[in-house]
Amino acid sequence: MLNTSMMSKTFTFVVFLVSSAAFVASASAADATAAAGKAKADAVCASCHGKDGNTPIDPSYPKLAGQHRDFLVRALLDYKSGARKNAIMASQSQALSRADIDGLADYYANLPGSLQVAMPK
Ligand code: HEC
Repeated sequence: MLNTSMMSKTFTFVVFLVSSAAFVASASAADATAAAGKAKADAVCASCHGKDGNTPIDPSYPKLAGQHRDFLVRALLDYKSGARKNAIMASQSQALSRADIDGLADYYANLPGSLQVAMPK
């Protein structure tokens, strides 16, 4: 016969198992989104922003690696809607779905970055 303490431990263990499974499921969904983002980043964005998101082909092209995820999502949505105007990024963002944007933002936000601003002397 189970006493109260054993039942409570068993209950705690079951809660732990269920919440771990939920955590693993949500982690792998996020991994899948970021993996899709990496594939698109390598195929499309790397040609201008650099393969690591950190070595753009021109100093006027922003680094994306290590940028805040919400900043990246907002920038891409704004280019797509026309709220932020730039001829190059307007065309780059047109074909992106909201899921593409989330994946790209996950991917770039988690890359090691060197975002910094050089101050004038
Ligand atoms: C042909 C070159 C080119 C390609 C390809 C390109 N970009 Fe850009 N991107 C730029 C330029 C140039 C800017 C700066 C635009 C501006 O001044 O608003 C920029 C800006 C951005 C910004 C704003 C960053 C900031 O710091 O404000 C984001 C986010 C971005 N690009 C994401 C992407 C993603 C994601 C892709 C791939 C789907 C991509 N870009 C493909 C040239 C490119």
